[in-house]
Amino acid sequence: MKSPQSMGMNRSGIDLSTQGAEEMMKAVDEFPPASGGNAMTLSQLRAPYLAEADPVGSIPLPGTLKGVAKSGMQKLMGHHAEVLIDQLAGRLAFERTGTRLYDALIGKFMTRKDEATMLSVDQLQQIRAEEAAHLGLCWDALRQLGADPTAVTPLADTNAVASIGLMQVIADPRMTIAQSLHAIHVAELTDNDGWRLLIKLAREMGQDEMAGRLQTALEEEERHLASLRTWMEQISLNEAGAQ
Ligand SMILES: [Fe+2]
Ligand SMILES: [Fe+2]
Repeated sequence: MKSPQSMGMNRSGIDLSTQGAEEMMKAVDEFPPASGGNAMTLSQLRAPYLAEADPVGSIPLPGTLKGVAKSGMQKLMGHHAEVLIDQLAGRLAFERTGTRLYDALIGKFMTRKDEATMLSVDQLQQIRAEEAAHLGLCWDALRQLGADPTAVTPLADTNAVASIGLMQVIADPRMTIAQSLHAIHVAELTDNDGWRLLIKLAREMGQDEMAGRLQTALEEEERHLASLRTWMEQISLNEAGAQ
């Protein structure tokens, strides 16, 4: 297998054919686009869809009266409980994706460990277990509010769609461990900010006890990000022959 840094086979750049580049520039003048429009045309085309679109989903309010009675819902009175429910469900969806991203990375790493010798499967499995536990934290918090953790809320849907590309990177057998870590990096940055926002929201909505439990997830996410940064730095420096 070629290393990702192997040079010489990339034919995507313009410098490969000076003459071809000149001819292409001439052709641009000779054959202008047959249709009008500019960068705003696409936005104009989208405008009527924006005006007519239904929302991507809705936020189910707690379905059980029992749940409402026993939970901290009373403290949420006067606030929009559905905002906290949506944020928790969105976090839950992203943590589930995070768990799957690590599952896929662990599978790749098992067969291609030699690409990243500073990593160990134990480290990856520990992070994977923490991501799965984070999902459980969101699940319990939703239950505590009397909400249904299996419901796909708008933010859960948004996060699921936004993370599609991350899984595509890791599942692609051509992408190396180092390249796969870039996708994990995007997920971990999002994890960190996601928990920060969620904890702030929970506190502001009178859910101090819940916020305290969510805080442990943020501390673990900070460690995930720090590990990722170290690994990516070591791999890059190694590849560059700078270490
Ligand atoms: Fe997480
Ligand atoms: Fe994480």
